Amino acid sequence: MELPFQIDLSGQVAVVTGGSGVIGGMFSRALAACGAKVAVLGRSAEHGQKVVDDITADGGEACAFSCNVMETESVKACRDAILEKWGGINILVNAAGGAVKSAEVPEDQLADIQGDARTFFNTDMENIRRELDLNLYGTMLPTQVFGEVMIGRENANIVNISSMGAFGPLTRIPGYSGAKAAVSNFTEWAATYFAKSGIRVNALAPGFFQTPQNHALHFNEDGTPTPRSKKIVDSTPMGRYGEPEELIGALLFLVSPKGSGFVTGVVLPVDGGFHCFLGV
Ligand SMILES: NC(=O)c1ccc[n+]([C@@H]2O[C@H](COP(=O)([O-])OP(=O)(O)OC[C@H]3O[C@@H](n4cnc5c(N)ncnc54)[C@H](O)[C@@H]3O)[C@@H](O)[C@H]2O)c1
Repeated sequence: MELPFQIDLSGQVAVVTGGSGVIGGMFSRALAACGAKVAVLGRSAEHGQKVVDDITADGGEACAFSCNVMETESVKACRDAILEKWGGINILVNAAGGAVKSAEVPEDQLADIQGDARTFFNTDMENIRRELDLNLYGTMLPTQVFGEVMIGRENANIVNISSMGAFGPLTRIPGYSGAKAAVSNFTEWAATYFAKSGIRVNALAPGFFQTPQNHALHFNEDGTPTPRSKKIVDSTPMGRYGEPEELIGALLFLVSPKGSGFVTGVVLPVDGGFHCFLGV
């Protein structure tokens, strides 16, 4: 895998939740290319095997583990299996998460309020709860379970994944925006809490990247951009979507003790300027 720059993580163990996903898989490959042994976590181990096979083919070391980030026993069992295999954990990347399709609210909800269209008022709150659980609880729980055994380890650090929805709510996805705002808040809390124990805690806040997870919101079935996609590009000063690979440099900076050894509690936007542009 081509990296923007090399850091040395040899002898370290990195755990990536959602490691079978687009961003988590890419992060797993990047950490392995820097010499870390990588635990690729997915809801089932088979999901992460493709990522593991890529890493192994490149000469790296990785193993797929099954882990549901919303279930305590599943996360604990995964931690124990990793400790048994490699003896310790240095880095945790909380990349499991995402928006829940059934929790999206249509743009024109007030215009439809008298009709039978789905609006905020008839959105099933269980879907919103699932979104909060996956993104917030699914970050806090692995931080609790893995963080406990990271204390005292060389280069102990955690990277969470926030979002532009954390800086201000994005239309249509109130549950996701609220959950990611809470992820940013938790990042700052955990950075403070863990500071003296030596664990740094930071977050990345990706702007807009074209991935399968958000494809339906941004592109019509015929591949043409939706009006939302046009708004995104117009609201991004750099005038384009990001390429997922453009997140790797920020990850490597945050996990590198030489690069960011005195950096903790930051939420680093990688967004072409989206979060600082008010439209005028
Ligand atoms: N794609 C973007 O543009 C974008 C922008 C901002 C933030 N993010 C965030 O980046 C992270 C990764 O997103 P992605 O685009 O790679 O999405 P993705 O859907 O490809 O990856 C998400 C991963 O999380 C896993 N997952 C879901 N529920 C889980 C559970 N209960 N237990 C364990 N794993 C579970 C999925 O199996 C998948 O592997 C997410 O937190 C997402 O919110 C993505």
